Amino acid sequence: MFSVIRCKKMSILLTAIFAIATVCGSACSRKTTHADPDLDSFAKQIAERKVNDFGYPANHDIRLGDFYTWLTSSKLYAAMINNAGDPFDQHGGHLNALSFERNVIEFFGPHYGFDKGNLWGLVTASGTDGNNHGIYFGSKYLEKKTRKKPVVYVSDAAHYSNMRLADLQNLKLVLVPSDVHGRMIPEEFEKRLVPNRPALMVYAMGTTFKGGIDDQDALNKILARHPSIEVYRHVDAALFGGYLPFTEFRDLVDRKKHPFDSIAVSGHKFFGMDEPAGIFLTTMEVKNNQNPFEVSYLNGSMPMINCSRSALSPLKLFWIIRHTGEQGFISQAASLLERAKWLKDSMDKMSWPAWLEPASNTVYFKRPPDALVQKYDLAPDSDARLGGNLSHIVVMQHVTKERLQSFLNDLERTRQVHETR
Ligand SMILES: Cc1ncc(COP(=O)(O)O)c(C=O)c1O
Repeated sequence: MFSVIRCKKMSILLTAIFAIATVCGSACSRKTTHADPDLDSFAKQIAERKVNDFGYPANHDIRLGDFYTWLTSSKLYAAMINNAGDPFDQHGGHLNALSFERNVIEFFGPHYGFDKGNLWGLVTASGTDGNNHGIYFGSKYLEKKTRKKPVVYVSDAAHYSNMRLADLQNLKLVLVPSDVHGRMIPEEFEKRLVPNRPALMVYAMGTTFKGGIDDQDALNKILARHPSIEVYRHVDAALFGGYLPFTEFRDLVDRKKHPFDSIAVSGHKFFGMDEPAGIFLTTMEVKNNQNPFEVSYLNGSMPMINCSRSALSPLKLFWIIRHTGEQGFISQAASLLERAKWLKDSMDKMSWPAWLEPASNTVYFKRPPDALVQKYDLAPDSDARLGGNLSHIVVMQHVTKERLQSFLNDLERTRQVHETR
């Protein structure tokens, strides 16, 4: 009797093991079928390299894992949704996430001093796409008001996208020299001001290499001395525009304190998107003074440059806003600035020439030996006024003090090797 029961138990156990093995086997074979050694080794390489990626303004502390789990479990991944259309004027019947896009813009609007009733914007493909809209909207707005094409003024330390875009849009570009801190020199700007043409100012809110911030008040004072010149102000705040609203320096990006007309910010820098994206914000007045191009098949007007646009980027930004929250952004921003100051102080202590501009998370310094430049992916630049070759570290969320300490240890070691030679 006992052995019969034992036998039965045994057979149940074996059946269970067989069932588990079958499920496991098919899952494993599915895994094997879909595994791709090339993609796997690429992913491994990126995971290793991102740890020491210090030279570019990417935030590698991505928190979208749960978003992708949701995307798969909700089956949304299997639909093609397209944000062609205006998030503030939704007519289209096609599959889109325009209401989430509008929600994202309305979350950020007040952070840059836009009132809800006088706000228009979109989630862009990148900071460059935001600058493209700023220059395009600015130029059409000024042309409509004055019947003249504007001149674009930008400092020679600003991001090259502004120069490329002025060229693309066939606009006259005036490059204004910058000072040693990367800021447009107001006197040099005034010397170059074209008296009979509207001015499209591109203010740099954190230049790419030195983190210089154009002095909006000084430049606005000059413009006020030339009241016949119609002005549009676009702020290129690709990196700094992400964290500044959440710091004591928030006034710099508040249009109620500094009257700008539009602003562009990257989404994959401070905010932690895992692919290029951004936001572009402007006023209804600017938007209503564009050529709308009525598009019947979309049942609406299309003031923006692109037709098809990502619907996933707004959803990811919506997710990031929901899961980070105001308080999360505030503490991330404080932490970046604290670590940047710590890095600068540490380099001062070892007497390695280093600079940090106010409100900046970018420490720039005398360029270290090549081995370190490669190990930490340090971007190169040079400035004769500061002794020649320079590099910088952009202190993003993944650039922890421990990792910075390793960099400082490497720097000290290589210096000692060089000095004893
Ligand atoms: C000041 C500034 N503006 C614009 C850009 C371009 O932004 P994106 O790379 O998002 O196109 C960058 C990129 O680093 C930048 O630093």
